[in-house]
Amino acid sequence: MHFTGEHILSVKQFNRDSIAHIFHTANQMEPYALRTKRTNVLDGAILGNLFFEPSTRTRVSFGCAFNLLGGEVRETTGMQSSALAKGESLYDTARIISSYSDVIAMRHPQSGSVQEFANGSRVPVINGGDGANEHPTQALLDLYTIEKELAAHGQHINGMHIAMVGDLKYGRTVHSLSKLLCLYKNIRFTLISPNELAMPQEVVDTIANAGHHITITDQLAGHLEADIVYQTRIQEERFPSQDEANKYRGKFRLNQAIYTQYCKSNTVIMHPLPRDSRSDANELDNDLNLNPNLAIFRQADNGVLIRMALFALTLDVADKVTQYECEVPWHRSR
Ligand code: CP
Repeated sequence: MHFTGEHILSVKQFNRDSIAHIFHTANQMEPYALRTKRTNVLDGAILGNLFFEPSTRTRVSFGCAFNLLGGEVRETTGMQSSALAKGESLYDTARIISSYSDVIAMRHPQSGSVQEFANGSRVPVINGGDGANEHPTQALLDLYTIEKELAAHGQHINGMHIAMVGDLKYGRTVHSLSKLLCLYKNIRFTLISPNELAMPQEVVDTIANAGHHITITDQLAGHLEADIVYQTRIQEERFPSQDEANKYRGKFRLNQAIYTQYCKSNTVIMHPLPRDSRSDANELDNDLNLNPNLAIFRQADNGVLIRMALFALTLDVADKVTQYECEVPWHRSR
């Protein structure tokens, strides 16, 4: 993958070399993300940030990442506030917004919609999540987090054991992450979900064809002795009805007592967030907040680094970031 001017729509575009290149670039973004330095390398560039489905982390971190590189962000949120609500096609919207922007990040509730949009765009489009299909930038930041967290324990992604928990049917982050992990060797996957919310067969087949070991179960007990536990939210917005989604809410709660009973002492807990903290769901209990192995906030922080790296590579400024560096004059509280 050359990155410059390319759309980023699916994890299928990446290989181990391109991932290493993204992660190396992300590491270089740390001083800017931590505000110890500034860079204006994207001064004058515009990000079109189009989110037609709710988002906190992805939308804001795309915007922050672009601002941290010195660029400007123009944003639209929600279907009703865009001309899509008047019947405009994704193709026409893309033709218009791409003449206003240098790069576009987009989220949309339909699978394949971001690809359809990219077909009409004259600038690179980055997929911020298309329905239950893919969330490639989340998968990259998840992989980056896994690599860092395991390295802190002297471990590597090759040979690790990951337990994915919850809504594996509609959870696009586990689909994308599983496909990326197929680029590595000898991983043990434990897929824990209600039978009705099992990982799609196509993803299971991809994992199996990569030579990884898979256990599929609907039980938490006895299956959490993993290096990584990746918890997910019941994706209620993708269910045919709220009543249907409610059947599964709170089925796989993880709290400190369960962690102590079933996990290893250094099992890393991840979640793409948002975690459903309503009392009838409580996917990751607040009593885990002081557990040093709860990596969810480090994981979200890494999203800024990865998205900065993708902008720098797509707009071909990765090697110019330091050249446009300047001081940070304001007080930093972090
Ligand atoms: N992880 C993630 O996609 O979060 P948001 O829905 O808040 O963007």
